[in-house]
Amino acid sequence: MNILLLGSGGREHALAWKLAQSPLCETLWAAPGNPGVAEVASCIDLDVTDHAAVIAFCEANVVGLVVVGPEAPLVDGLSDSLRGQGFSVFGPSQAAAQLEGSKGFTKDLCERAGIPTAGYDRVSTEADALAALAKFGAPVVIKADGLAAGKGVTVAMTMAEAEEAVREIFSGRFGEAGAEAVIEEFMEGEEASFFALTDGSTIVPFASAQDHKRVGDGDTGPNTGGMGAYSPAPVLTPALEAEVLERIIAPTVRQMENEGTPYSGVLFLGVMLTGEGPKLIEYNCRFGDPECQVMMLRLESDLVELLHACADNRLAAIAPPRFSNDTALTVVMAANGYPGTPEKGGAIRGIEAAEDTGAKVFHAGTALKDNALVASGGRVLNVTARGASVTEAQAKAYAAVDALDFPTGFCRRDIGWREVAREKAHGQ
Ligand code: AMP
Ligand code: GLY
Repeated sequence: MNILLLGSGGREHALAWKLAQSPLCETLWAAPGNPGVAEVASCIDLDVTDHAAVIAFCEANVVGLVVVGPEAPLVDGLSDSLRGQGFSVFGPSQAAAQLEGSKGFTKDLCERAGIPTAGYDRVSTEADALAALAKFGAPVVIKADGLAAGKGVTVAMTMAEAEEAVREIFSGRFGEAGAEAVIEEFMEGEEASFFALTDGSTIVPFASAQDHKRVGDGDTGPNTGGMGAYSPAPVLTPALEAEVLERIIAPTVRQMENEGTPYSGVLFLGVMLTGEGPKLIEYNCRFGDPECQVMMLRLESDLVELLHACADNRLAAIAPPRFSNDTALTVVMAANGYPGTPEKGGAIRGIEAAEDTGAKVFHAGTALKDNALVASGGRVLNVTARGASVTEAQAKAYAAVDALDFPTGFCRRDIGWREVAREKAHGQ
């Protein structure tokens, strides 16, 4: 089967790496891909906002499966356009992608389906937002409704911070995404991520992970797209996983199906493990980046078979995904300046030396300049390793990081710290 993968980051390199290993995969195309993806796929230029152009490419190249990496083309309805022409697509419809595309949509759905999540108000004017703040009191959470590249959420510890966030949203900083907002009750607890595949009716648990959103060691400094992750996340015990499936994921999938907008693809949820049990923080309609990188390193099943069955409503007919019991851990190497303006063009050497340690280095923001590899984005490389424990995976990942030569880059030195501390306390 010929496959077209859309996207250009570390998540897409990990997906391409795994898709290309499948005996079911004939030609793998990637648009636009990156120099890492190009090692296993043919990279092409294709404007994903031009649905007719994507359809024409799929027709000309007899594409049997389209895998959509990032959320923007899903929220933009690309999968509907492709399905309308008879193509198999891994990724939800535009209506179902609202689970990520509109925070208010998701909160209302949770209310209709009785799914545990933080109490909330949907607001569309500054005055209503300020009234909601007064109702909830600080700490409180303010979210722009639409996609805001991970920058639309403020967890405000004081009323002054909260009011500032509200003013920012309604001053137009997030454009359309900020025309509406959600004001939410603050939830206390540890966060974890969970992934499930669904074709609209069958649900197949995939894997758990935990990421590190702050830029600095000890979870300090500004938020980023994620500075590192590991999978599985032992904090999500089998009992908690079962509860998340039963109380959050299953009612969501059922509700979407009943409302005529079945969700097909991967459901990525952020959950808060509160004193009252797990509660939904948010949904994403795609794999996490860098969570995907660690899950792909552990996945033993054929990814093409899984994603194709998901796209064609055949999940019930195939074996559920199998994963190695190992932990996989990834360290993000970012360019100096990230998450502000990253320094571009810095030379990257030593990837082979890093991989000689047994790690896998995924490209996230790289480019070729005069045949030499350089940094071209904020998050540049994902140095990913496996081990029998988080402590071992962490040691291997940092040994690979130390073999890299990327002078204009940096990374956190403590990815996995929570679990490493727990393993130490348990004498593992
Ligand atoms: P989101 O984009 O909705 O995942 O929010 C980004 C981050 O804000 C989450 O990963 C949490 O750390 C935090 N957050 C979101 N909602 C809440 C909440 N209701 N209570 C506490 N923290 C939250
Ligand atoms: N790492 C978080 C995300 O992909 O949204």
